[in-house]
Amino acid sequence: MKKILILDFGSQTTQLIARRIRDMGVYTEIIPGDTELTCSVTADVKGIILSGSPESVNGAGAAPDKNIYDCVRSDEGASAGCAMPLLGICYGLQRMTHDLGGRVESLPHVEYGRIAVNLSVNNEQLKENTESTARVSEFTYKFLKGFRSSFTAWMSHGDTLTRLAPHFKEYGKSATGYPAVVAHNEKPWFGLQFHPEVTHCEDGDNILGAFVFNVCGCEKNWSMERYIEELNQSLKERVGDNPVLLLISGGVDSTVAGAALLKSLKPEQVHLMYFDTGLMRKNETAAVRANLEKLGAKNLHIIMCEEEFLSALKGKTDPEEKRGTIGDLFITIQEREVAKIRLPDSYLLAQGTLYTDLIESGKGVGKKAHVIKSHHNVASPLVDAKRKAGKIIEPLDRLYKDEVRRLGRFLGIDEEIIRRHPFPGPGLATRIPGEVTKEKCDILREADAIFIEELKNRLSKINTGVSLYDDIWQAFAILLPIRSTGVAGDERKYGRVLALRAITSSDGMTADVYPFETRDLLEISTRITNSVKEIGRVTYDISSKPPATIEWE
Ligand code: XMP
Repeated sequence: MKKILILDFGSQTTQLIARRIRDMGVYTEIIPGDTELTCSVTADVKGIILSGSPESVNGAGAAPDKNIYDCVRSDEGASAGCAMPLLGICYGLQRMTHDLGGRVESLPHVEYGRIAVNLSVNNEQLKENTESTARVSEFTYKFLKGFRSSFTAWMSHGDTLTRLAPHFKEYGKSATGYPAVVAHNEKPWFGLQFHPEVTHCEDGDNILGAFVFNVCGCEKNWSMERYIEELNQSLKERVGDNPVLLLISGGVDSTVAGAALLKSLKPEQVHLMYFDTGLMRKNETAAVRANLEKLGAKNLHIIMCEEEFLSALKGKTDPEEKRGTIGDLFITIQEREVAKIRLPDSYLLAQGTLYTDLIESGKGVGKKAHVIKSHHNVASPLVDAKRKAGKIIEPLDRLYKDEVRRLGRFLGIDEEIIRRHPFPGPGLATRIPGEVTKEKCDILREADAIFIEELKNRLSKINTGVSLYDDIWQAFAILLPIRSTGVAGDERKYGRVLALRAITSSDGMTADVYPFETRDLLEISTRITNSVKEIGRVTYDISSKPPATIEWE
């Protein structure tokens, strides 16, 4: 598929560049900034963006493959010898300047935030840019069409260009007097000192769009229909007549992966396995079963293992020990149950890995990206063995979470599941500090279900027309290991204490407390204590992440 390639030098906003361009209907891929640009990497690439970086070109900042400046477009439709369009953003611009013979030096003070940028050619002059009066090359003309003559940009840089590289010209300056927009005199090479991908940058989409459409000549053809078509084809080729096994958690990713397999392959080929650990939410297993059957699942293996998990957790109170116990038992049961269904050795294992999972684990893209989720995904010998044998398929590994949701809708998955809040692998065990028992799980399930139902039925006061549930990134209840005094009639009663947690976040790595209206909290608390007799007191967790994590354990 024709695409824009983004070389990632470690900026916080690299992801945003990819998102903005995908949202314009053009496929993008992010690869580490120093990847060797072989023919297979640049095939079908219509333009390359060099991202920002926390490093300096004069320090530890990585360099792109030298061949980038000799790269020609090889995609169908490009004329022979046509130079690869390049756009350097912030560090990317400094990198190009440094590599091509200009000079980059530190600023006396870091420039951060909104800063005005003024262009040295205005629209009128550009309009008159006919062959005889040409002030700028055709490429530059096409690029600058995306700009207003003056706009507010967003910057974050400690270095600046003090001498442009030969054959480059400045077309825009920041209000603080530094080069902000530069272009090569002949080649389709551009640089921006600011970040057009950040929402605070005025006209950012038009500027990126000018590069992507006007300069690179991309077409808007990245859509879910297109993705499904390609996925269909590639799954059929990859899997052939072999069986595929997918472990289902009941969350959005594995459900969408399951639906994609069922749509592309014969349902008889697809084995879906789900474990009810007894640490699931209320009615979860029944809902998972109904949903997968509705999607056409024929080989559905629902493994009930509540007793095994609860007896393994008996007497354990240390959070790490609890997590370890659950992870180990998962692996044991998984191996046992997979062996029971006697698949031939040729079977493939499917996973609901997302594009962001690859980025976070540093497997597929930006090497500098943090490994954040390591504690979340227990390494499994089964996955390792299948990966070694080249028998893993990851149908969602080019998609972001919201694209997975869109795909899920296309595949006919219920809105309830698509909009579902995340749920951790170890389930309710992370929400029952101390020893986990069936009684505690049952109490927590009831209280949590009421909390969630209330959130679905109440409207947000912040975003009109949206339910509280949809306005919140993740909400759940926690059953605390203490009792507190209450009154029931004339008697004193020592009831259990429940905490409610509701947070906003974009990726779960940081989180803010959801600012409920007091009335909502009071009414929800009353309904819980009236309905779940064991609970005598309800509190609201008002800690952000950091310092607190989202789950309690
Ligand atoms: P924390 O508690 O680390 O959670 O701030 C961040 C997000 O990850 C979820 N979470 C997990 N997900 N296995 C998972 O699949 C886990 O062990 C796990 N622990 C936390 C958590 O619910 C939140 O969305």
